[in-house]
Amino acid sequence: MPNTTEPLSKTQPLSKSAEVKLSRRWQWATRGRAISYLMEQAVENPNAISLAAGLVDPSTLPVEETRKILADLLGDPERGRRALQYGTTPGSERLRRQVAQLLQRLEERSNAAVEIDPSRLILTTGSQQLLSLVGEVLLDPDDICLVAAPTYFVFLGVIHGLGARAVPIPADENGMQIDLLKQELERIEAAGELSKVKLIYAVSYFENPSGISLSVERRRELVRLAERWSREQKIFVLEDAAYRELCYDGPDRPSIWSFDPTHETVILAQTFSKSFSPGLRCGYGLLPKPLVRPISDRKGNEDFGSSNFVQHLLATVLENGQYEPHVEQVRASYRVKRDRMLAAAEKYFADLPGVSWVRPQGGLYVWMTLPEQIETGLDSPFFDRAVKVDGVMYVPGELCYAGTHTQRRRNQMRLSFGVESPDQIEEGMRRLANAVRAVL
Ligand SMILES: Cc1ncc(COP(=O)(O)O)c(C=O)c1O
Repeated sequence: MPNTTEPLSKTQPLSKSAEVKLSRRWQWATRGRAISYLMEQAVENPNAISLAAGLVDPSTLPVEETRKILADLLGDPERGRRALQYGTTPGSERLRRQVAQLLQRLEERSNAAVEIDPSRLILTTGSQQLLSLVGEVLLDPDDICLVAAPTYFVFLGVIHGLGARAVPIPADENGMQIDLLKQELERIEAAGELSKVKLIYAVSYFENPSGISLSVERRRELVRLAERWSREQKIFVLEDAAYRELCYDGPDRPSIWSFDPTHETVILAQTFSKSFSPGLRCGYGLLPKPLVRPISDRKGNEDFGSSNFVQHLLATVLENGQYEPHVEQVRASYRVKRDRMLAAAEKYFADLPGVSWVRPQGGLYVWMTLPEQIETGLDSPFFDRAVKVDGVMYVPGELCYAGTHTQRRRNQMRLSFGVESPDQIEEGMRRLANAVRAVL
């Protein structure tokens, strides 16, 4: 034992040659670098218009509502002290009761009457933490999670970060193709690996990146399939409904969760980030009973509860009836921007051969496919030219695909209408079309 009274430098000389031994978990996490590179490009090219950032529209952020609620909260010392104290691991009961009612209202809009038990709800630091906790409690290294192709690339990073495998299932205009999912399960079973399949991940509304929603029929089939294939062990469906409330036209669809008769198969993840404020970082999960304790145990190890202060604030927003009118305003604002991006796509890309795009009914993204020969990856000449010469940024589509290099399509782009103004969106699309013309 070193003498603790001695100066550190004397007892522990700094060794220049000592090797830094990082964990395998770190090695598995390096996939997350793409997002850092995109951020760097944004900083290095400040005049570039960002159709890449998944940020929400700053003009919709509820500054005034939040200021008033905070003034009330901190104006009452007793309430202020309660809000500034630690909370519990699953989160404020008051907010969980409000979230249960909110979810009931959302289901009722699509005629699915349900009862939601607040004890199955857990409040997390953004829905991202919930996604990560689900991965941690279910996936061991080499386990399998089936995902749509394309899908939310940050969750692909979570799966790889656990040393698990993400297996892609091609999607069409109705989302993940359930017949191909069944074929993949048959293939996995034939390879003797069915016991490794623990999870199917589905972004059910206006998928990031494709803007596509899973059809109602496929929602029902997905739950049935997961139940039928839960032979060697339970296969859960992780329904990521992050964009559920950002619906601009088309029907309100019931969640995948609502098709789960016993609520033992589907984990529902939602968030206040897109509908209210991402800076508050509050998401939530509605869990099958057998996962309530494990997820809470894991979260106990990580942070033993998300921000109590934020939960007080959001509970008040919901109790005061301020939430839904705000979401309505957010929707109206994004609808205008979505329409502007689609109109600009028509104006600048319609005459370009081999270019097509999805017209999303909600969410924040337009998914565009270029001719096969135009690769859009971070190291492609097209990306370089778009950012440095034309001054516009996008997210390369290939980042959103699981699987091997050959399973990824390399000629697609995720274009966000979230953060830029309508005029900048139009200008960004004009610049992007210039870049396509230049390389065609
Ligand atoms: C599909 C999807 N799921 C989850 C998240 C995580 O959001 P948050 O952690 O802010 O709730 C995002 C963020 O962009 C997303 O696009």
